[in-house]
Amino acid sequence: MENKVIQIAIDGPSGAGKSTLAKYLAGKLGILYLDTGAMYRSFAYHAEQNGVSGSDDAAIVKLFDSFHLDFDKSKVLLNGKDITAQIRTPHMDKKVSEYAVNPLIRKHLVEMQRNIGSKQSIVMEGRDIGSVVLKDAPYKFYIDANLDERAKRRYLQNLEKNPDADYEYIKNDIIRRDKVDSQRTDSPLCVPLGAHVIDTSNISVDEVAEIIIGLIKSEE
Ligand code: DC
Repeated sequence: MENKVIQIAIDGPSGAGKSTLAKYLAGKLGILYLDTGAMYRSFAYHAEQNGVSGSDDAAIVKLFDSFHLDFDKSKVLLNGKDITAQIRTPHMDKKVSEYAVNPLIRKHLVEMQRNIGSKQSIVMEGRDIGSVVLKDAPYKFYIDANLDERAKRRYLQNLEKNPDADYEYIKNDIIRRDKVDSQRTDSPLCVPLGAHVIDTSNISVDEVAEIIIGLIKSEE
C-alpha cells in the first residue's frame, strides 16, 4: 500500500464524523488529507468579507482571482492569513450553504480539488467526492450516524470553544443543512455508486478506520 498512489473518497452528512475519521486515516496511512468543506467555508468567508452574495455570479467569478488557499497542517490560510477559527463559527455554519449551492463556485472548487487529488495519495472528504470530484476513486466510503448522535458530537465539539453552545440550535442547523445538501440540484449529497456505507453511531473513529483499512487491504 505504501508505494501505490491511492485515492480515498469519504462522503456523508454533517456531524457524521468524516473529518475526524479522514484525518485519522490519512495520518495512519501517511498520506494527504483534504477537507473540502473547509474550502466551501473559506470561499463563503472570502465572499462575505468582500460583500459578495452567493447569487451574484459576475462578482463571484471576479473573486476567484483573489482566492488563494493553503493548508498548513490543521490551519487554513486564505491569501496567507490564518482563517481557521473564522470559518468554523455558527454564523459560517449557516452562511456556507448559500455559496455551496452555486454551480460556478462548485465548478471552481472541484477543479482545485481534482488538481490536488491527481498528484498524490489522498484522503478527500466532503459531500460529492465519490460521486463527482473523484468519481473513479477505487476506495469510496459513505459515513453516516443517526441525527441525535451527530447533533451530540457537534454540540460537544462546539462546547470546547463556546460554553453557551445550544444543543437544540445545533440539531436544527444539522437538519437544515442535511436538507440543503441533499436537495440541491448541483451535486447533491448521495451515497456514491460503489461506496461502502458505514454507520458510526455506535463505533469509535479508531474502529471505523480499522474497518476501512481492512477493506482497502482486502480489495488490493
Ligand atoms: O463538512 P462541512 O460542514 O465543513 O461543510 C461545510 C458546507 O460545505 C456544508 O454545508 C456543505 C458544503 N460542502 C459541499 O457542498 N460539498 C463538499 N464537497 C463539502 C462541503
